[in-house]
This record gives sequence, C-alpha cells and structure tokens, in this order.
Amino acid sequence: MATTSSLLLLLPVIYPITFLFLILLPCHASDPDPLQDFCVADLKSTISINGFPCKPVSAVTSSDFFFDGFTREGNTDGPFSWRLTPGNVLSFPALNTLGISMNRLDFAPGGMNPPHSHPRASEAGVVIQGKLLVGFITTENVFYSKVLGPGEMFVVPRGLVHFQKNVGKGKALAFTAFNSHLAGSVVAAPNLFGATPAVPNDVLTQAFRINNNTVNLIKSKFKS
Ligand SMILES: *[C@@H]1O[C@H](CO)[C@@H](O)[C@H](O)[C@H]1NC(C)=O
Repeated sequence: MATTSSLLLLLPVIYPITFLFLILLPCHASDPDPLQDFCVADLKSTISINGFPCKPVSAVTSSDFFFDGFTREGNTDGPFSWRLTPGNVLSFPALNTLGISMNRLDFAPGGMNPPHSHPRASEAGVVIQGKLLVGFITTENVFYSKVLGPGEMFVVPRGLVHFQKNVGKGKALAFTAFNSHLAGSVVAAPNLFGATPAVPNDVLTQAFRINNNTVNLIKSKFKS
C-alpha cells in the first residue's frame, strides 16, 4: 500500500519527464555522438558492431585524417553518364562515428544521379561547375526543384526521394555533404526492379499498374 501511494505522489513528476522524453526522441535523427576524439574505422575487423571498431590509437597516423579521393574527376561512362566518388566511412575510415560524410558528383552533359533516397541522412550540396536540375519529392508527393549554377547550394531533407540532372551544355561538378558517416542510398529503380532475389512480378504489375511484359522489360534493364 505504501509503495502504491508513494508512486501516486510521484505521478506529477513522472508525467512531465515522460512527455519531455517523447518530444526529445525525434531529435536523435542522425548518427549517434562519438564517445572519443576519433575512432578511425578498422574496416577489416571480424567483430560486427553498429558502425566499425576503432583502429588502435598507436596505429593511427596523420594520413588517416586526409583523403585525396576527390582530386580526380570521376569516369562518367555508363548508363546514367555520371559518377559518384564517395567520401564516406568506407573510403575514408577516419569518418567512423563522426556523423558526417561527403560525395563528389561528376556529370557528363545530360548525365543524371537517378532518383534515390538516403535512409540515414539529410543532404546539403553545392554546385561547382555547370548547370544542375536538383529536385526532391515529399511524402505528400509534392515536387520541389530548381536549376542551380556554380556556388549555389541545395538541401534534401532526410529520406526523401531526389535526383540531380545535368541540364547544361558542358560537364557539371557538385559536392554533397551528409549528417551520417554512411548515409546509405536506396536507388528507386534498381531497388525494385534489380533486387536479388527478384521482387515477384505480380507485386510490381499491381504496384505500377503495368503488365507482366513491361515488368520483365524494366527488370532486364536493372539485372544485377
Ligand atoms: C510473367 O513473366 C515471368 C517471366 O517471364 C513468367 O515466368 C510468368 O509466368 C509471367 N506471368 C504471367 C502471369 O504471365
């Protein structure tokens, strides 16, 4: 009895705390905070954790903290005439646990970074060269877009489907930044039509209101 009544007395305290906790929860919509200065990823570790284990501090050198992957122009050969050079935890292990990463995007004329979304990050980007049509679509299916030139910046809210397309006459170059060391990318078309094992045809015919032959045709374009 004594414990029940003391619990009742605590209710005015517990309610506001629970409420505060619930409002604060959505604030954690990015990578967790680091618990030390750095944790250069040991990508070869056999231990599996959320993120990557740290390389021993004694083995860390200056070169771990610098990355020259963006000094080279990406090869834009391929079906979409563009190239993404990632500066994420996999190519630049010093980013491990720091909650940030960047990409270099090279586009041939007409090239496109096809519609995709990042499950773990919002994206900010800046155009360095050329003319890019940048657009994203909201959960309400509203399309926001603009053609950007050098020095102009854009943002894509976390998880929303977006693309960039070179609409200029020459090459285009842009850099993007993410609030995750590995933002992840779900590329819409290959995700649905190039998955392994394949998504059943009757799911796709029904979802897209198209016939079986059309599904087979699209699948043939995204064979992994
Ligand atoms: C749809 O195409 C697949 C692959 O060719 C085939 O195996 C399947 O029988 C077809 N389904 C229908 C309903 O025609």
